[in-house]
Amino acid sequence: MAIVVSGIRPTGNLHLGNYFGALQSFVKMQEENQCFFFIADYHSLTTHPTPADLHGNVKTVLVEFLACGLDPEKATLYIQSDLPQTAELYLLLNMNAYIGELERCTSFKEKIRTQPQNVNAGLLTYPTLMAADIIIHKAHQVPVGKDQEQHLEMTRTFANRFNRMYNIDFFPEPVAYNFGENLVKIPGLDGNLKMSKSDNESSAIFLADSPEIIRKKVMKAVTDSGPANPDQPRSQGVENLFTLLSYFSFPETAAFFENQYNTGSIRYGDMKKQLAEDIIRFTTPFREKMMALSADEGYLKKVALMGAEKAQASAGKTLQEVREIIGFKPF
Ligand code: TYM
Repeated sequence: MAIVVSGIRPTGNLHLGNYFGALQSFVKMQEENQCFFFIADYHSLTTHPTPADLHGNVKTVLVEFLACGLDPEKATLYIQSDLPQTAELYLLLNMNAYIGELERCTSFKEKIRTQPQNVNAGLLTYPTLMAADIIIHKAHQVPVGKDQEQHLEMTRTFANRFNRMYNIDFFPEPVAYNFGENLVKIPGLDGNLKMSKSDNESSAIFLADSPEIIRKKVMKAVTDSGPANPDQPRSQGVENLFTLLSYFSFPETAAFFENQYNTGSIRYGDMKKQLAEDIIRFTTPFREKMMALSADEGYLKKVALMGAEKAQASAGKTLQEVREIIGFKPF
């Protein structure tokens, strides 16, 4: 039985990229593995949320985890800051994480470019905190989208470095995992390669979006002035719509629009209308469950407490062993 660990930052509602990149795998993996899924609220502090926003976002993600089918009895479902052992392991790993390798990380370079006014130490050491999350449970597999590949590579580096430094086979080497053949990248409605909340709100469709909002966002999606020569590559906006069709529509529907594109008779408006309805069909059951769950504060509290307890049992054991290996010994 594999040990599986993964997390999602609470920065608002979860979108379709989060679902296909991570959540869908969480739900499937909990059946046959020992799973730890958490809400990465320490990580979200790099963006300086207000206390009220932070708490509200953690609740939103907890509700969405449950609505998507995560079972707190089968998996360990917890909030990262309920496991302060993570922060201790992060400190220990940082002693052997080098500035050069952290500065070379693509996501850090991207942040320097997009938010030069807030390049904090938490952003630089984001990969060591993520490594701590994963190896604190001695994970083997980490269900994530494609954008997290490099962070996983760094996690293996830190785990290996610890093993070599103390000449011990202690931490396994965790690998990225997604249920499809390859790691997933769901594209945005704004023509971007990745659906993302932070770049542009209208790029993302959230699981909680109402049918009206979904229709509005999809109808505004970026396209082009019409099919070019079918042998030429499609514009990115149109390519993204076809990718979304492949996830949400029946194969016959996707084939129908492919054919219309190739024969030059496509009307993007018709394709968007169909895509919007297919996305609504997909998200409606989740949205209904979310509404019921978010009113049930007592249940949410119970889930968080149970998760914290189970996570602490696993992390406490690892950390005690790590402390001994390093040479922190009681007198
Ligand atoms: P975050 O919160 O940015 O994203 C959560 C998960 O959703 C995936 N994802 C996508 N997958 C496919 N297409 C997209 N457009 C898309 N957008 C997001 C991400 O790949 C991710 O799996 N660093 C992590 C959170 C984290 C974590 C961890 C993950 C903290 N510690 C330990 C795994 C293990 C993050 O920021 O994900």
